[in-house]
Amino acid sequence: MKQYIHSIGVALPNRIVSNADLALHMDTTDEWIQTRTGIAQRYMVEEESHTSLATRASECAFATTSIPPHTITHIIGATCSPDTYSPSLAVSVAHNLGMTNICAFDMNAMCSGYLYGLEIARGLLCANQSSTILLLASELMSRRINMNDRTTAVLFGDASTATILSTQHEGALAELEDVICCADGTLSNCLTLGGACGKPKAVGDSITDDFFIQMNGREVFKNAVRIMPTICEQILSTNGYTIDDIDLLIAHQANFRIIEAVGERLGITQDKVFINVHNYGNTSSATIPLALYEAKEQGILQPGMKVLLVAFGGGFTWGSALLQC
Ligand code: ACO
Repeated sequence: MKQYIHSIGVALPNRIVSNADLALHMDTTDEWIQTRTGIAQRYMVEEESHTSLATRASECAFATTSIPPHTITHIIGATCSPDTYSPSLAVSVAHNLGMTNICAFDMNAMCSGYLYGLEIARGLLCANQSSTILLLASELMSRRINMNDRTTAVLFGDASTATILSTQHEGALAELEDVICCADGTLSNCLTLGGACGKPKAVGDSITDDFFIQMNGREVFKNAVRIMPTICEQILSTNGYTIDDIDLLIAHQANFRIIEAVGERLGITQDKVFINVHNYGNTSSATIPLALYEAKEQGILQPGMKVLLVAFGGGFTWGSALLQC
């Protein structure tokens, strides 16, 4: 039984934060950030909650599909930055959308969250073909970064996305041909978030550095450019394809140097590699659906295209997926 993506919705905070804005608060420059990462700006919330942003993304997804909200059976929240652990982001969005008696839960695979979400959605659709799934890949990274740590604060941004999946072919944007997801905790200390959660706490304790994202950037870079091409080659060969069959590569948008290196190692021409990290920074689990949405809006994503998705993130976690538009 085949599974399909029907629509993708996106919501962004109102506030744009440029590199120059960041340089007012920390020892950095637009030149350093652009040269090392390609990032020129990112969106960051002010007062809006994560639940509100993700609700807006869901409404945007429903606006471009004939699938009605009342047919949703599951909401999966792929996020490392929910407003609260309980209720989960998925339950809070379900409440805002007036959905009850559905299965709703969050899961965290850091920057690979969208691909893990597709993998879970695929399993649920295989188990029951009448399921209809709303997959939120949504992050308020600005609430999880230490603005005193210039090595991480300049990299991330906020964005919410919502993807609707079902087994119906009619009206679909793309078939989900395959997904592979992996994890290996051997180098888990290279990128951590919420290390402080594992320690006993008392009311009045101050927040320590390990509440926020902490990263060994060089190790992450090295592993990302090694592992992402390998998982792409694995999913291509498993499905009997080569890189020449791919019309568009959408890699996790963390850094243009990582994306270019992955493209080069795969031997795909740069015109087939979609990049929008300059406008949004790294929005963790949201980067891939945000790029898919933008590629469609810009007329780059066309019917008939075969699209290769790949992500890498904290854990380490990583994954790849194949879409047939
Ligand atoms: N502004 C100015 N200078 C800075 C900044 C900053 N924001 N951050 C670090 N520096 C300084 C460092 O202190 C260092 O100074 P020093 O030489 O005097 O010690 C110098 O710049 C070079 O630092 P490096 O860490 O060696 O810089 P590098 O070229 O490795 O680039 C970067 C750092 C951009 C983080 C890179 O390692 C990278 O892209 N790594 C991947 C990390 C990533 O994308 N993580 C996202 C989450 S995981 C994922 O999504 C894949």
